[in-house]
Amino acid sequence: MELSKRLKEITFFIDKCNVIADIGTDHGYVPIYSVKSGLCLKAIASDINKGPVDKARMNVKREGLEKVISCRKGPGLSTLEVNEAEIVIIAGMGGNLIRDIIVEDIAVVKELKSLILQPAQNPEILRRFLYSHSFSILGETVVHDEGKFYEIFKVSYKEKNNIRYQEYMDYELSDNLIKSGSPDIKPYLEFKISSYKRILNYIGEGTETALARRQEVINKISLLTEVLNWG
Ligand SMILES: C[S@@+](CC[C@H](N)C(=O)[O-])C[C@H]1O[C@@H](n2cnc3c(N)ncnc32)[C@H](O)[C@@H]1O
Repeated sequence: MELSKRLKEITFFIDKCNVIADIGTDHGYVPIYSVKSGLCLKAIASDINKGPVDKARMNVKREGLEKVISCRKGPGLSTLEVNEAEIVIIAGMGGNLIRDIIVEDIAVVKELKSLILQPAQNPEILRRFLYSHSFSILGETVVHDEGKFYEIFKVSYKEKNNIRYQEYMDYELSDNLIKSGSPDIKPYLEFKISSYKRILNYIGEGTETALARRQEVINKISLLTEVLNWG
């Protein structure tokens, strides 16, 4: 079983531990890979839908890992007991949903060593939540896979977190991401610049709102260009 570049990048953030849990596991590839490669001894593959749980169960069986990977059905982190897993992975869902899953079962989250989060959309919503609540940012990166860019966060809950992180453009970028060392950061910035340039072509100049929006986009392009030229 070969992991995609995106999923492989997620596993680089997993520290060796006893038990990981993959929430929204779908195929169960991350738990299977993590156990087989010795990143963890046991894993929990959890999903809200029956189809994915059945799929994960079938793949786990095919690999002969039924004794060490538990497949569970249920929403978010509700399938876990407090302290049952040390590391949780939530990948391939929207930033809003990942945030809601964390909030819903914060008692589980508080005891985790780390969470590895990979929003499929709206990474800025997740970043805003993490940066403005009690989380330590242990790592951020971006990976380009099959024509799309994916941001990945590694975080842990901290009761009193006074560290203030630098963010840019309403949580679209952060110092942590820019300095991640990812080879995909430069193409990501270039992609954002060209997307905003395209948007600029569609904004008129007729109204005050349009002018304000134009200026906002121009400011974003100039900041992104500045950041691109730093390194
Ligand atoms: C696009 S797949 C991502 C699969 C895998 N994590 C990955 O990154 O390749 C999203 C999965 O999340 C599951 N899902 C959606 N909402 C969920 C929730 N609230 N709790 C648990 N799983 C959920 C879906 O059933 C689906 O299998």
